[in-house]
Amino acid sequence: MLTFEGRNAIVTGAGGGIGLACAIMLTECGIHVIATDLKDRPEALDGHIDETAFVRGDITDDAVIAECVRRSQAAGGVDYLVTSAGVFSPDDGSMLDLRGDTIDRTMQINTLSAIQLARQSLTLLKESPAPAMVHVASMVGLRNMENIFEGGPSDAYQLSKAAMVSASRSLAMQLAGDGIRCNTVCPGCVVTPMTEQIYADPERVRAMEARTPLGRIGRPEDIAGACAYLLSDQASFVTGIDLVVDGGQMAKL
Ligand SMILES: NC(=O)c1ccc[n+]([C@@H]2O[C@H](COP(=O)([O-])OP(=O)(O)OC[C@H]3O[C@@H](n4cnc5c(N)ncnc54)[C@H](O)[C@@H]3O)[C@@H](O)[C@H]2O)c1
Repeated sequence: MLTFEGRNAIVTGAGGGIGLACAIMLTECGIHVIATDLKDRPEALDGHIDETAFVRGDITDDAVIAECVRRSQAAGGVDYLVTSAGVFSPDDGSMLDLRGDTIDRTMQINTLSAIQLARQSLTLLKESPAPAMVHVASMVGLRNMENIFEGGPSDAYQLSKAAMVSASRSLAMQLAGDGIRCNTVCPGCVVTPMTEQIYADPERVRAMEARTPLGRIGRPEDIAGACAYLLSDQASFVTGIDLVVDGGQMAKL
């Protein structure tokens, strides 16, 4: 049983996929969650968080982040951050051809918004008895990988995830003195709204299953469980790591 007595969390990207699974799992662990997304509040959050605990908006807007922090403070403080908001641009490709705005926008959403949330939450995190943050990065932040949509590079996404891994380690070192832990979770392939078009093709599903030692594609709950562990008191000696949750794929590379 993981321990989270009376804690408050902010979860970004909670409109679907991994962020939604995190928001649900954390509330099931007894954590009060402020959830945020560009999308409308998903019905799946009914019974987990009330309407006022969902902030709809663009996470690259500092005012949206400030509103999440304000609502969490009103509920008791900020103990945990989970940053799962992310995009994979259809314009992604090689950094040798990419337009600057594809890289900028991907970095803004996938990396800089998580850093900005950490900055804006810092005062309240320092007041928490057991503060921690988990950033959802990716296997591609650790290894070069082909674009799973079309093959070839997806450098805006890959750069943003590598930057997230790097930023998380630096935050872990800079905040350890304040007792704030910071880690990433690096998923492999997970079926979510971001990837469902790929896995609608049974051939691709079979190919991915064959590449994965555990023989299946990931579920959002697989990632949420790793996030919950990293936030919990049971992980109180864990900081600055990148927890790969990929069914064993990375070990084969
Ligand atoms: N699905 C995978 O296989 C996989 C693998 C590795 C890493 N990831 C990462 O996991 C995280 C969650 O992705 P997912 O697979 O659940 O996909 P998803 O598309 O279901 O979730 C991402 C969420 O982020 C939200 N979002 C995007 N831009 C936003 C913005 N500007 N402001 C606010 N919210 C915004 C989306 O609306 C969406 O609900 C992402 O960071 C993604 O890069 C996913």
